[in-house]
Amino acid sequence: MSKTEISGVKLNSYIFNASGPNNSNLDELKIIAESGSAAVMMKSCTIEPRKGNEEPRYSRLPFGSIQCMGLPNLGYREYVKFASYLKQCNKPIIASVAGLCTEDYQEMVKEFQKSEVDLIEVNLSCPNLAGKPPVAYDLKQVELVLNKIMNLGSKPVGLKLPTYYTRNHYERMTELIQKYGISFITCINSLGDTLVINSEKESTLLKPKRGFGALSGEYIKPLALANVRIFYELLKNKVSVIGVGGIKSGSDVFEFLLAGADAVQVGTTFEKEGFSCFERLNREFEKIIRKKGYDSIQEIKGRLRFL
Ligand code: DHB
Repeated sequence: MSKTEISGVKLNSYIFNASGPNNSNLDELKIIAESGSAAVMMKSCTIEPRKGNEEPRYSRLPFGSIQCMGLPNLGYREYVKFASYLKQCNKPIIASVAGLCTEDYQEMVKEFQKSEVDLIEVNLSCPNLAGKPPVAYDLKQVELVLNKIMNLGSKPVGLKLPTYYTRNHYERMTELIQKYGISFITCINSLGDTLVINSEKESTLLKPKRGFGALSGEYIKPLALANVRIFYELLKNKVSVIGVGGIKSGSDVFEFLLAGADAVQVGTTFEKEGFSCFERLNREFEKIIRKKGYDSIQEIKGRLRFL
């Protein structure tokens, strides 16, 4: 039985993997397909394969992680093929596309529209490309991309967004989401250009970009909750919102639904704990709502109380 929907696509739980860790090749994707994840989200891809940045490019931290991976991926043509192999797992397959220019987004969305994927997440917020800020901070650039990708087929297209802080950004992004008929949004990507220092070695943790990398995990949960809440209010429940950022317990899942999320994605916890995290999070979440006496998402979603 389905628990929630993203743009009409049914999910049998609220929890699935975020693009990023452990989802770059077919072996990893098969593990997700057979796990308790409600969907199979694939790694953000580019037109051509990329090796990504020099190592060390990922570091676990006490309350999350920092990374500057540089979009290592097999190139979108492989992920189009993987979608047809993964189809037999009977759960939604989601593509994540990360263009290096507007035309890249157009080519990849066009091909995924013809593929076996169920949803297309357009990553407008990759924080790790040197000299290129996330597209989604430049609303003119966002509009150029949306112009090219929103009339290429009937599969729902969503946007992976960065952390926004200002009312102006939230409102202008909302206008674009409405104008172009975006089906879902995913809030938030990792927080770019942060710095963690190893004081013993007097050095950075990461090699690329002089140690600046993107922060994920518990550190960014309050930012993620705020972005989910504000878009939930602005979009008035007409666009599905997926929450991501620092989910490591069933209680975190519950908080994201209260803020207004339809579903959540798990990145850092999946990297640290492996695929068993999905079943654990589901168990913990179901225990909480049973105890509270809720039995459908309608009783929870967006129902945050104000003091
Ligand atoms: C990478 C990191 C991201 O946060 C993202 O959205 C896309 C790619 C990376 O460096 O591989």
